[in-house]
Amino acid sequence: MSAPFSGQEQGKELVDKLYRTGGLTKEEFCELIKKRGKETEKYARKLACQVREKVYGNQIYIRGLIEFTNYCKNDCYYCGIRRGNRNAQRYRLKQEDILECCEEGYGLGFRTFVLQGGEDGYFTAERMEEIIRMIKKRFPDCALTLSVGEKDENTYRIYREAGADRYLLRHETADEAHYRRLHPENLSLEHRKECLRTLKKLGFQTGAGFMVGSPGQTEETLAEDFLFLRGLQPEMVGIGPFIAHRDTPFRDEPDGTLENTLFYLALIRLMMPRVLLPATTALGTIHPEGRELGILSGANVVMPNLSPVSVRKKYMLYDGKICTGDEAAEHLSDLGRRIEKIGCRIVTDRGDYRKDIPQGF
Ligand code: 5AD
Repeated sequence: MSAPFSGQEQGKELVDKLYRTGGLTKEEFCELIKKRGKETEKYARKLACQVREKVYGNQIYIRGLIEFTNYCKNDCYYCGIRRGNRNAQRYRLKQEDILECCEEGYGLGFRTFVLQGGEDGYFTAERMEEIIRMIKKRFPDCALTLSVGEKDENTYRIYREAGADRYLLRHETADEAHYRRLHPENLSLEHRKECLRTLKKLGFQTGAGFMVGSPGQTEETLAEDFLFLRGLQPEMVGIGPFIAHRDTPFRDEPDGTLENTLFYLALIRLMMPRVLLPATTALGTIHPEGRELGILSGANVVMPNLSPVSVRKKYMLYDGKICTGDEAAEHLSDLGRRIEKIGCRIVTDRGDYRKDIPQGF
């Protein structure tokens, strides 16, 4: 381990450079990640919070998260709903249930719905098309985000033409060897990246992202993540701490930390001032004030859980996932109060990516 920057001046210079130029070299990212001390972290988080304010004011966007199936054909080593987990109780919501979640969410003030699920073969392109059309017809003033994994271009096109606006597909890691450490043979980083490029091409507001502290993550793999994000220029970036799930091969691996997650959130806000950046449920799970601290480090989105209460505990990506407290959609007013305590406020418009704000703002 190399010594921290002397007096942290060098760290602050790199943070400033990242904001000023929108990027760093791989070596600079590595150095910043490796050598930063508390002072550099504090500096980056504060600056990122100011940048968020400059772009979005005190507004925090909300998204209603509907976890509509936990069937998954994939066997990712980190994930609690991996195919190989025989202890998971599988469920899939019916169309009516999904629509009912949206109804409830709409009444609470949500104007974006996120349909998230495992890669479940039951939901064919045709079935998804029907669901998307149904939601967009019933709620024409709402944005619809999908998060259902890797599909072929045709399927993504069907989703898009049916009216889906946004798509979340974390790249998980941009480093080839690290990708192999997290995923079984049949999955590839190249295909994942290809999907992200296709989504952008089709006009989705696209989200990439990664877990913080996943097994095998290093300064170098993180530097690759930042460089990849810089190249892709996604409209959204989702990052949260890795949290071990007891029924996965990573059961004994240490969780990602609050400090690292907050620092990387800050770096992402500084590199991409306009990006839509959630303070994730995983961050709220590892610390009772995780979401607030995320916002104070540059995040500007929260995604309360709109799934039916009866299935929430079954969508367990990791141990201890919070789902019935202030992060639940039905407790939105409590979440709102918490956010007001840190000088921000929840807004109920669609919260689209702000293309209107000039680059380099
Ligand atoms: N800890 C934290 N995040 C996880 N995800 C999956 N498993 C875990 C875990 N054990 C994240 C992945 C995925 C997103 C839906 O949830 O990054 O893309």
